[in-house]
This record gives sequence, C-alpha cells and structure tokens, in this order.
Amino acid sequence: MSDINELINKEVNNDAEELDRVYKCIEAARAIIADRSQSLGRKLKYHVTTFGCQMNARDSEKLSGVLEAVGYEYEEDEFAADLVLYNTCTVRDNANQKLYGHLGSLGAVKKTRPDMIIGICGCLTQESSARDKILTSYSFVDLVFGTHNVFDFARLLVMVLTREVTKGKGHIVSEIWDDTEMIVEDIPTKRNYKFKSGVNIMFGCNNFCSYCIVPYVRGRERSRNSSDIIDEIKRLASDGVVEVMLLGQNVNSYGRGLDEKITFSELLAQVEAIDGIERIRFMTSHPKDLSDELIDVMASSKKICRHIHLPLQSGSTRILKTMNRVYTKDQYIDLALKIRDRIPDIAITTDIIIGFPGETDSDIEDTIDVIEKVQFDGAFTFIYSKRTGTPAASMPDQVPADVVKINFDKVLAKVQETSTKRAALIEGKVMEVLVEDINRQDSSLVTGRLSNNLNVHFPGGASLIGKIVPVKLTECKGFYYIGESL
Ligand code: SAH
Ligand code: SF4
Ligand code: F3S
Repeated sequence: MSDINELINKEVNNDAEELDRVYKCIEAARAIIADRSQSLGRKLKYHVTTFGCQMNARDSEKLSGVLEAVGYEYEEDEFAADLVLYNTCTVRDNANQKLYGHLGSLGAVKKTRPDMIIGICGCLTQESSARDKILTSYSFVDLVFGTHNVFDFARLLVMVLTREVTKGKGHIVSEIWDDTEMIVEDIPTKRNYKFKSGVNIMFGCNNFCSYCIVPYVRGRERSRNSSDIIDEIKRLASDGVVEVMLLGQNVNSYGRGLDEKITFSELLAQVEAIDGIERIRFMTSHPKDLSDELIDVMASSKKICRHIHLPLQSGSTRILKTMNRVYTKDQYIDLALKIRDRIPDIAITTDIIIGFPGETDSDIEDTIDVIEKVQFDGAFTFIYSKRTGTPAASMPDQVPADVVKINFDKVLAKVQETSTKRAALIEGKVMEVLVEDINRQDSSLVTGRLSNNLNVHFPGGASLIGKIVPVKLTECKGFYYIGESL
C-alpha cells in the first residue's frame, strides 16, 4: 500500500513524467482488478455513457481504453456493470437533466449492489453548482473528476479501488482542476470504430460567445504540436484508420500560441500527405477565423470531405453582436456563398440558437433570410438555454417559452425545406460511400456516409464495413439515401 500511496502522491513535472505514472497506475490497478476478479470468479464489467460532443466521445475512448487495459470488460447494460462512468455535457440544461435522470435510476441499483463504482466526469463537473449538487444530492457517487484531468484517470481509478484501506469505504474521490498546461495523449484508447477516429488538435476555447459555457468548463484554448498530431494520425493509419476527424472548438484558430508557426490549412496539407488516410473531416469552424487559404486547401484537396460545419447561431447582426460572435449577417452570407462558389458540391451545415435574450420577430426573419440565401444542407436548431455564469444569463428580455416555441418551429421548417432540397440534388448519381455499420433496422442493409456527410443505406454485409465503395443514390428520403451497390 505504501508503494501505491507514493505513486498516487508523487509530484510530476512534465507530460513525460505524467505518462510514465499513467502506465504505472495502470499496472497497479491491473493487479487489484485481477485479484477481485479471481475472488469473484468472473471478469469485472464497465460501462461508459457519453453525453455531448465529439470531444467528449474522444475522451470516452481514452477512459474505456484505460478500463480495458486494467482488466475490465465492456458491458452494454449500464445497470449490470461493476463500474459505470458518465462523461457529461452541460452545454444546455437538458444535458444536465439527462444525467440526473440516469443517476436517479442507477442510485436505486446501487442500493442492491453497494460494491458498484459510479464515476462522473466531463464538462458538467467543471461547473461548481452542478458539481455541488452531485456531491450533496447523489452522495452514492464514488468518483468525480473533470475535463482537464482525463489523462489522469488511471491514478484516480487506483485511488477509488484502494480507498477502503486509505480513506474508508464510501469516501468520494473528487479531483477537479481549473485548468492545465499538460497535454498527455498517448494513453491506451479503445476506438469505437476501427476505420475512423477523432483526433484532438486543440483543447478549450477563447471565444466566450455570451451564451456559452464551454470556455468555462473546457478552459483556455491550447493547440497540440503539429508533429504530435501527425505522428498520431500516422499510427492510426497504420492501424487501419481511413477517416480522421480533426477536433477543436474552433479549428480555424489552430496554431495560435504555439512556438512553431503553423496554420490550420498548413496542418491539413500535412494530414493530406499521410498514406492510408482517405478522408479528412474537421469540427468546428468558427466563421470569424475561416481563411481564404483554408477554402483553397479544401478546394484542391482529394481527401478533405465535401462538408463544412459553420455555426451561424443567429442571422441577425444585432443579436450576433450581443452573442459576441464577431461577424455580421452579411459577412456570414458572403463567406458561405464564397465557399459554395469555390467548392460547388460542398454541404454546408450549421447550428442555430432560437430564443437568445432580446430576440424579436425581425431577428427571426433575418435568421430565416440567411437560411434561404445560404441554402443549408442541414442544421442543428437549439432552444437557448440559460447557463449560470455566462453574460447572456443576466441579459434583460429573456424570451418567453411560448414565443420561442413558435419561432423554433418556423426556423426548423425552413431548415428542413432547404436541406431536403439540397439532398435531392444528387439523386441518381454514383458516389463513394464509407461503410460504417450494419443497418440497425434492416440487417440486409449497410449504412455508410458520403463525403458530404449524408447517410446512405444499401444492400450489403459486414465485410464492407470500413471500405469506401461506389454506390448509386437511387432514392432520396429527405435526410438520407437508399442506394444500390455497383
Ligand atoms: N465551438 C462550437 C460549438 C460548440 S457547442 C462553435 O462555436 O461552433 C455546440 C452548439 O451548441 C453551439 O454551436 C450552439 O449552437 C449551441 N449552444 C451553445 N451554448 C448554448 C446555449 N446556452 N443554449 C443553446 N444552445 C447552445
Ligand atoms: Fe462556445 Fe463560442 Fe467557443 Fe463555440 S466558439 S465553444 S459557441 S464560446
Ligand atoms: Fe458539451 Fe462539453 Fe462538448 S459542454 S458540447 S461535452 S465541450
């Protein structure tokens, strides 16, 4: 036990020392799990539930990677697992409510199985009022950690597994960091798909859009060194990955603050040169930082997918200003049309918030006008959710829920109109599809994705998964296609 205490409490001064400790903690946890497995006469099972965006999905792959490295086996049913981890989101209040719903049900299960370990991590834990609620109202939780110490999970796991001796049964292990300078990426990862993977290129966000909690829970923007990113993608390619999704809250500002001089477009060009990588995607592009250089690189690329997600948030210049988005309605339209002009087959998708404080009918008309002019291929529409601590939460003129609902339906109807119109444009064409899965409803079909991000279902079997194949797009179903393989 004294060895373990030393390991847990050792001071680490840099990324390499931390990584070394991660692997030592994995070894220590492995021995404990092997012991428990043996006395139970069965394998221990884990379940990770992920809420929120691709950043969280990527973090969950690392958490699962560590859990498998220490000897846990994946369990589909969260109520049957020995260890359950919730990787949370707090971007809108309904994300919080979802977690509380899960915790309520799991709390009842834990009463009958007190040895179950329940952990909560991710964005919600970084917000103090939500964290306090967990620690007080859900005191059956065993482990709480945040977004900045995901890489330290192996150490936290050792602390939970040994706490009966060190701190006593029922003690909550809780470590939340306000920020970190460290970037520790080379920890074991369990990829959800063999053939595609997210790759973090940067962390955090500096934009402070006035409605958004992400900068508070994910910390300041930091880019990874390009050589680390490229090495990771080369390793992924040699492991069978053909599609990478470069991840960041604002990928267009990649490179700021690094010692090396590099832009996002230059990084893309380097990724393009990696053998084995066939498709490159990225999320998310902030319109204010999208350069002509990026449009050029996309236009001439053979691998960058014909899709850009370009969140609009609002079509009203007045609202955009109070949202702190730093572009106007006309600048957004000009940018989107410039992209369409240079890359005609590109799909442009967006995010729109309805019900931001002070939003009037005329602001909604502006939003609808942008949707018509840009002809979005798809949009996520969100009802504004007040986030404690953000500037918008204390703005006057919060919009009543009944008005928001009417406007939401109006915007949604317009988005559906343009997106079905856009999707129909490629009916009858033959296009390349990356096959991702057996179709969930009909197992004689496979489901894949076009470069422009539309889904296609067509007859086929498991041997096609991970392959890029030509498919005739026979029937447009609005948001997806039914196809025929050739
Ligand atoms: N970094 C990305 C967005 C990450 S959050 C970007 O700027 O594009 C994903 C989306 O959630 C945002 O684009 C926004 O539309 C929505 N969102 C963020 N905060 C919200 C809030 N308080 N209420 C409703 N929607 C919100
Ligand atoms: Fe939030 Fe704005 Fe940052 Fe996106 S760019 S994460 S919306 S603050
Ligand atoms: Fe949610 Fe955090 Fe992503 S708040 S949207 S999981 S960065």
